[in-house]
Amino acid sequence: MVDPRAAGRDLARVVFDEATIRARVGELGSEITRAYPDGDLLVIGTLKGSILFLSDLVRRIERPLHLDFVLASSYGSGKVSSGEVRLLYEPAAPLAGRHILVVEDIIDSGRTLASLVGRLRSRDPLSLAVCALLDKQIAPPLPETRFVGFTAPSVFLVGYGLDHAEDFRHLPYIAELA
Ligand code: IMP
Ligand code: MG
Repeated sequence: MVDPRAAGRDLARVVFDEATIRARVGELGSEITRAYPDGDLLVIGTLKGSILFLSDLVRRIERPLHLDFVLASSYGSGKVSSGEVRLLYEPAAPLAGRHILVVEDIIDSGRTLASLVGRLRSRDPLSLAVCALLDKQIAPPLPETRFVGFTAPSVFLVGYGLDHAEDFRHLPYIAELA
């Protein structure tokens, strides 16, 4: 498959196209709107992978919210999780007494998320939930994972925020790397 955005690299196939992603993100926005009838909501995007998903998702959440980010580093440029999770940035704003919704691109081994959820939990939020666009269903599910876009095949995916060695993040669809 040839795409001028793909840095000369080869993509095997499109797994989730733009229209499919848009429709599911709309449904997730409605689910999230219904799930938080009241209270302060802080949506925390995981950098950098969640940014396209996050920016589409929050436009479909029809209630007040604030936005922040975390930057957890676990992958480097390899395709296999290193198991090492470092938090390079976390929200300065208080989490106590607020609903926290972590927006994650993809759950693979689940290590990144488990470590992140533990760190955020210790800051005493009113509630803590995760919305992941993709779940490879390799990890035992975390009780916090309340919203999931799609079950993903166990292959390496790129696009719509997901990278390989920083390529492909800006593809408007999700593809399998060749
Ligand atoms: P985990 O800790 O193994 O669950 O890995 C989570 C992080 O690894 C995600 O937030 C992604 O940044 C990255 N990752 C996992 N699987 C993929 C993939 O298929 N494509 C691109 N990045 C991935
Ligand atoms: Mg990555």
